[in-house]
Amino acid sequence: MTDVRYFTGSGHSESIARACAEALHEAALPMGEPLRENAVLLLVFPVYCERVPPPVAAYLKTCGAERAAFVACYGGMSYGRALYDAKTLFGGTVVAAAVVPTEHAYTKDGYPFDEAALAPLFEKVRSGESSSVVIPKGKRHLLSGAPGLRSRLGAKLVRSSRCSGCGVCERACPMHAMHAGKPDGRCIRCLRCVRVCPEGALSFRLSPLLKAYLRRRRTDETRLFL
Ligand SMILES: Cc1cc2nc3c(=O)[nH]c(=O)nc-3n(C[C@H](O)[C@H](O)[C@H](O)COP(=O)(O)O)c2cc1C
Ligand code: SF4
Ligand code: SF4
Repeated sequence: MTDVRYFTGSGHSESIARACAEALHEAALPMGEPLRENAVLLLVFPVYCERVPPPVAAYLKTCGAERAAFVACYGGMSYGRALYDAKTLFGGTVVAAAVVPTEHAYTKDGYPFDEAALAPLFEKVRSGESSSVVIPKGKRHLLSGAPGLRSRLGAKLVRSSRCSGCGVCERACPMHAMHAGKPDGRCIRCLRCVRVCPEGALSFRLSPLLKAYLRRRRTDETRLFL
């Protein structure tokens, strides 16, 4: 029995969670939905600044599952210590984990999801085998220690006059950082508000520094820990 849960900003982790759920004949639900007793939690989440996004970090500490598998989606730049941190924060048994390349939320280019590459992970989750995986610490970029700052310096949210003040973005924001189309200092630039705005009133602008960083060569490495 597997409970597939996801956290997403721009939607990639949600589509990958749906594909995982289909392969496992389960449903994909947002993180926070109740978990069944004895189910393995399969958590799909994005890599932000080479780390686990703050809402995922908080969830991992309190979700109450005993066994988990992780699928971390990254934009082809670097996944740093995201899986290592997820395992440490979770504290229970991690039976399988993977990093998969996706489109980058900021550039809209990247890699199509290769579901077949995750077949061995589905196999291990389905088997009920409970051996714990070893995840090496991995390298970290200098600025990944300050993900909030890095995101805020790198991307700016812009609200246009099309904003109707409907509050959809406020209700969708995982950080409670949005106020009628204007983010406060808690914003992690996940772009969920941009995706859900019914008026298309929100967009984002990248700083020259982040644009230059994103022009670096990408990697399409899928890595499994079984
Ligand atoms: C705030 C932020 C930080 C990101 N940091 C990284 C990163 O460090 N390395 C990387 O390869 N991709 C990075 N990405 C790209 C995402 O990991 C990738 O686009 C992922 O598919 C987004 O998932 P989502 O659509 O479910 O939010 C970042 C994206 C955002 C929005
Ligand atoms: S969802 Fe869009 S239209 Fe509604 S308040 Fe937010 S920015 Fe304005
Ligand atoms: S305000 Fe920031 S944290 Fe909230 S949904 Fe928008 S980009 Fe994400």
